[in-house]
Amino acid sequence: MMRDPDLLTFTLLALLTACRHDRAEDLGPAGPSVTPYELGRPYYFPELQIPADDPLTVEGIALGRRLYYDPILSTGGPLAGLSCSSCHNQSLSFSVPNNGPSVLPHVNLAWSRNFLWNGKVQGDLEDIMCFEVEEFFQVDLNVLRNHPVYPDRFRDAFGEVEITGTLVEKALAQWFRRLVSSNSRFDSYLRHEIEFTTSEFNGMMVFMTETGDCFHCHGIPLMTDNAFHNIGLDSAFTPADQGRYLVTGDPADLGAFKAPTLRNVALTAPYMHDGRFQTLEEVVEHYDSGVNPSPSLDPIMTKPGQQIHLGLNPMQKADLLAFLHTLTDDSFITDTALASPF
Ligand code: HEC
Ligand code: HEC
Repeated sequence: MMRDPDLLTFTLLALLTACRHDRAEDLGPAGPSVTPYELGRPYYFPELQIPADDPLTVEGIALGRRLYYDPILSTGGPLAGLSCSSCHNQSLSFSVPNNGPSVLPHVNLAWSRNFLWNGKVQGDLEDIMCFEVEEFFQVDLNVLRNHPVYPDRFRDAFGEVEITGTLVEKALAQWFRRLVSSNSRFDSYLRHEIEFTTSEFNGMMVFMTETGDCFHCHGIPLMTDNAFHNIGLDSAFTPADQGRYLVTGDPADLGAFKAPTLRNVALTAPYMHDGRFQTLEEVVEHYDSGVNPSPSLDPIMTKPGQQIHLGLNPMQKADLLAFLHTLTDDSFITDTALASPF
């Protein structure tokens, strides 16, 4: 569990230098043993766009998985000794509670083009991996090049090539595409495999209608629109709460943050970009009666008649919580194919 606030603010404070790379540059001929990997997705998930220069392979995913769980990526600097999995733990939907900015989970990010709470990295998964590897972790490639195992693993995945940052990023991006969560109780309901309890069903109706109005930003099936919104957590904004504004400089973006997926949300406490809420009950209270006005408040947060409060009754709140709990995907957090290979 991460406890050092300096480490955790590091991502937020990292310089806004563009992570540039020419992905085709160090493409080697595919290794002879490359096995294409077919990513399964339910029919109600959007089609997946995979960059032509980073096709999914069994070998590439295996390499990305190993890198993700290996502290070898951080041989020096402020993150020394940590692996990605130190802060992104499978049993918690690849997040971890902490005292600084909330750790975003790694769930269905193959469908996102906006990354980090303030969206300072946009593009493919390869682009956010470039940020993670070259700016956040500042990976020392020579450690991988001189390693007894990694040169072979890179050869398996990418052919006869020198280990480069681009290839580390490609392997990690393939691994992230593999992190699909689509077997929650809610998915079983959508696939007509189970019935909801009355409370779960009523909670879904609160969520999916104007009563709770959650679906506008947390819609089916990803349970996020992967866009930025100010949901009225504050009326005045310290730098840590300015969010998207720090990237765009547009006052309309003050206090706007990436809407996180609500898949596995019961596992990812504390909540919001700064972890200000410990429980889902507190989150529901925020939407129900805690929304603060400000000029950049998302218009969706203002209900017909200029109300910024939902005014749910206790039963509706309990139902909404029951529905949120149906979004937990036990098979995702226990799948041994997603666990540490070590
Ligand atoms: C010290 C803890 C820590 C470690 C180690 C760590 N992360 Fe993170 N990660 C975070 C935090 C905190 C955030 C949210 C930060 C933000 O948005 O500014 C985050 C966000 C992300 C995101 C964005 C998710 C989204 O929805 O936009 C990705 C992708 C990511 N991390 C990948 C990685 C990878 C890959 C590694 C290993 C190379 C890694 N992380 C290691 C703490 C960590
Ligand atoms: C206008 C868009 C919008 C609407 C409407 C909305 N949300 Fe959110 N939701 C967000 C954003 C953006 C965040 C992150 C805000 C932040 O951290 O500053 C968020 C965060 C959350 C979180 C915390 C997730 C985490 O991992 O930290 C929960 C839970 C949540 N919303 C549930 C709901 C529910 C339930 C409703 C309906 C009552 C709802 N949301 C309506 C955009 C929205």
